[in-house]
Amino acid sequence: MSAVTQIDAWTRHEGEARVRQAFAAAFGADGPEPGTWSAPGRVNLIGEHTDYNGGLCLPIALPHRTYVALRPRQDDLIRLASAQEPDGLRELRLADVAPGAVEGWTAYVAGVAWALAAQGLPVRGFDAVVDSCVPYGAGLSSSAALEAAVAVALDDVFDLGLAGADAEPDDAGRTVLAAACVRAENEIAGAPTGGMDQSASLRSREGHALLLDCLDSSVRHVPFDLDAFGLALLVVDTRAEHALVDGQYAARRATCEAAARTLGVQSLREVAPGAGLATALDRLTEASDDPATAVRRVRHVVTEIARVEALVALLDAGRVRECGPLLDASHTSLRDDYEVSCLELDVAVEAAREAGALGARMTGGGFGGSAIALVERDQVGQVEQAVAQAFAVRGLTAPAFLVATAAGPAN
Ligand code: GLA
Repeated sequence: MSAVTQIDAWTRHEGEARVRQAFAAAFGADGPEPGTWSAPGRVNLIGEHTDYNGGLCLPIALPHRTYVALRPRQDDLIRLASAQEPDGLRELRLADVAPGAVEGWTAYVAGVAWALAAQGLPVRGFDAVVDSCVPYGAGLSSSAALEAAVAVALDDVFDLGLAGADAEPDDAGRTVLAAACVRAENEIAGAPTGGMDQSASLRSREGHALLLDCLDSSVRHVPFDLDAFGLALLVVDTRAEHALVDGQYAARRATCEAAARTLGVQSLREVAPGAGLATALDRLTEASDDPATAVRRVRHVVTEIARVEALVALLDAGRVRECGPLLDASHTSLRDDYEVSCLELDVAVEAAREAGALGARMTGGGFGGSAIALVERDQVGQVEQAVAQAFAVRGLTAPAFLVATAAGPAN
C-alpha cells in the first residue's frame, strides 16, 4: 500500500503555541500578552445549498481549527498578520472598513469587527495574528473558522457577553455572533454564502451534528458518534480548489430566489416535497425564463431538505448504517440537478463506493473542495487507497484525507 496524505488537526496546545509565537514575531515582545481563541472548520453531512433557501442542513464541527492571538487596542487601528502568509503586517482603521474597501483574508477579520460595531457593540481596534490547520479552499469552511475565531476573541476582550462560558455556551449570543460573521462574509468579503458554516463553527456541540433550521436559525444537537457503530466519516479533499466568490454560487442562489418569487413564496422551504413539488415544477415550467434550469434547481433544494429530515430520523433511531443511500441520492441530485459537482468530486465518490463505502457525496458548495464517505472503520485505509488510486489513474492531483469526528465550537 502506498502512503496517502492525511490532513492532521493540531492539538489545542500546539495551535495556541504557534499563534503566540507568530504574535511575538509580528508585534515584538513589548506590550501586553495576547489572549488566544480558536474556531473549527466544518463538514456538512447533508443539506447542501439549502441554507439560503430557508432549509435544513446538518454540519459537524471538525477537530481542525483556526487559531487567533489577539489583544485589544485603545484606538481603532486593526493590525493583522497571518502565519500562513508571511508578507508582513496589514494595517487598517475600523472606521475605514466598508463593503468593497478591504481585500483578501483581512476582509474576514476586519469584517467581523465592522459587523459587530455596526450593531452598536463596543468594539475597537486590535492587534491579531492568525494561523490554521483547516485546509484552505477545501470546502471545509476555513473562512468561517477565521470569522468565528475572531468573533469569540472580540466578544471576550471587549466584554460583549455573547459567547457564554466554555462549559455553558450561550446559544442566543452565539447566534448574534454568527449573524455578524455572515455579514462580514457577505458584505465585506463579498461572498454571498448562506450562513450554515458560521453557525456550525459557533453553535455546534462536541459529539453532535448540528441540525440547523435556516428559516428561524433554531438548532437541535443530534448525537453523532460513528465510532460507537464501528463506522467512520472519511473526508476526501480533492485538491480541486473551489472559490465561492466566483459567479456560480451567486447564480445558483439567484435562480432559487427568482423561483421563489415566481412561486409566490418567501423561500423554497415553503414548497413541500411530493405533490407540492410537482405543482411547483409545473408552475415553473410555465412561468420561468429558463424553465429547465429552474425545475432542476428547485427539485434539488426541495428533495435535499427532505433528505436531511430522513437522515436525522435514521440517526435518532440509531440506524446509522442505513444512511448511505441518502448520501448517494444527495450527490446525484447535486451533480445532475444542481450541477455543482466536478470530475474530482465524482471520481472520489464513485471510487469510495466501489471500495466499500456505505454512501458518499460531495460536501460544501461544490465545484471542487471535499467529498465525504460513510465507511466501516476498519475499511478506512482501503477506501483511501482506492480513491488515491482512482485519482492517480486519471492524472489528477493526489487527494488528501481526514477522518472527521464531531468536535466542539469556537471558544
Ligand atoms: C458553502 C456556503 C454555505 C452553503 C454551502 C452549500 O459552504 O458557505 O453557506 O450554502 O456552500 O450547502
